[in-house]
Amino acid sequence: MVYVAKHKRKVMGKQIHQTLFEKRKKLDGTESSLSKIRKEIEKEKVESEYLIPEVKNWIETDSVKEVKERVKNWLSLKHPVHIIGPTGCGKTLLALQIAKERGRPTVWINGDESITTTDLIGGYSQVEVTSIRDKYIHNVFKDKDILKADWVDNPLTLACKYGYTLFYNDFSRSRAVANNVLLSIFSEGILELPTQFGEGRYVKVHPDFRAIFTSNSIEYAGIHRPQDALLDRMVGIYMDYYDRETEAKIIAAQSGIKEEYALLITDMLRSLRSKSPPEELIGTRAGVMVAQALKLANRCDKRSIKQLLADVATSKTKNLNHFNEKMKIIEKL
Ligand SMILES: Nc1ncnc2c1ncn2[C@@H]1O[C@H](COP(=O)(O)OP(=O)(O)OP(=O)(O)O)[C@@H](O)[C@H]1O
Ligand SMILES: [Mg+2]
Repeated sequence: MVYVAKHKRKVMGKQIHQTLFEKRKKLDGTESSLSKIRKEIEKEKVESEYLIPEVKNWIETDSVKEVKERVKNWLSLKHPVHIIGPTGCGKTLLALQIAKERGRPTVWINGDESITTTDLIGGYSQVEVTSIRDKYIHNVFKDKDILKADWVDNPLTLACKYGYTLFYNDFSRSRAVANNVLLSIFSEGILELPTQFGEGRYVKVHPDFRAIFTSNSIEYAGIHRPQDALLDRMVGIYMDYYDRETEAKIIAAQSGIKEEYALLITDMLRSLRSKSPPEELIGTRAGVMVAQALKLANRCDKRSIKQLLADVATSKTKNLNHFNEKMKIIEKL
């Protein structure tokens, strides 16, 4: 029952009487808005401290800029973009740089065999059980169990709710069934949380939500092929190793060695690449590793580069014969 004052007392034209209902309404409003503001501040703190990607020594030559702008243009049209390319060509760093330039918080998922829809959307993290046993009157026994489930949002739900950038790395490593939930996001703009009930079951996708996927082109054909309907809603950008000058600049920037030495490493790296089968190609990362090792040893002669190149390339050799063949190629570089 709500008490409504019929004759509001006014002093000099101002109302001085408040009904209990009005008082409560004012109090509730103030308190809930305060806690709302507190929550908002907390969220913003987490977003700026943990969710803005950090990209160190970013190199942007014309070829980097070209592919970056292509991805950004598709994203501005709200299409999810799938970057596909060989190992170590720079997919992840490109995606992170784009996410950083968007200025929105970014959430990250790493695809693998064991990923389930729950890993993407979230679930009930814990169930709180409260038991009340009332023996106030000796022969009357009241027992009440209250079950309260706590729902926790995982990256995909967070991104859809708050308009974050979703970065789904190595997405084709996850089984297709785990990614079914993405379909309604990209077609209807609705995220469905299958284990939730009532209103909470459907989340309207925030207008700032964007998604960037990456896949390794070597693995892509062999691992789980994503559902056709999903690929149909995405834009695919094929990315190869960057050009010689860009690779050298990246190697120099990520290791701190002089650019002329970085060019020497790049040339050997590219020459070895041209003689390797697709599953043994080594990317720009291998060049960065060689350069970092040279910097540590404080020398830069062809012999050392060849030796270090052999070390990083060996991780992809199958057996001793294979290794000897690779060494011969490296010797001739
Ligand atoms: N534009 C760039 N500026 C500076 N460094 C870069 C740039 N692009 C790539 N790199 C460096 O090159 C290396 C490989 O890049 P990255 O890890 O992004 O490759 P990837 O394609 O995601 O590899 P993988 O297929 O193994 O996931 C990293 O050391 C990264 O820091
Ligand atoms: Mg990567």
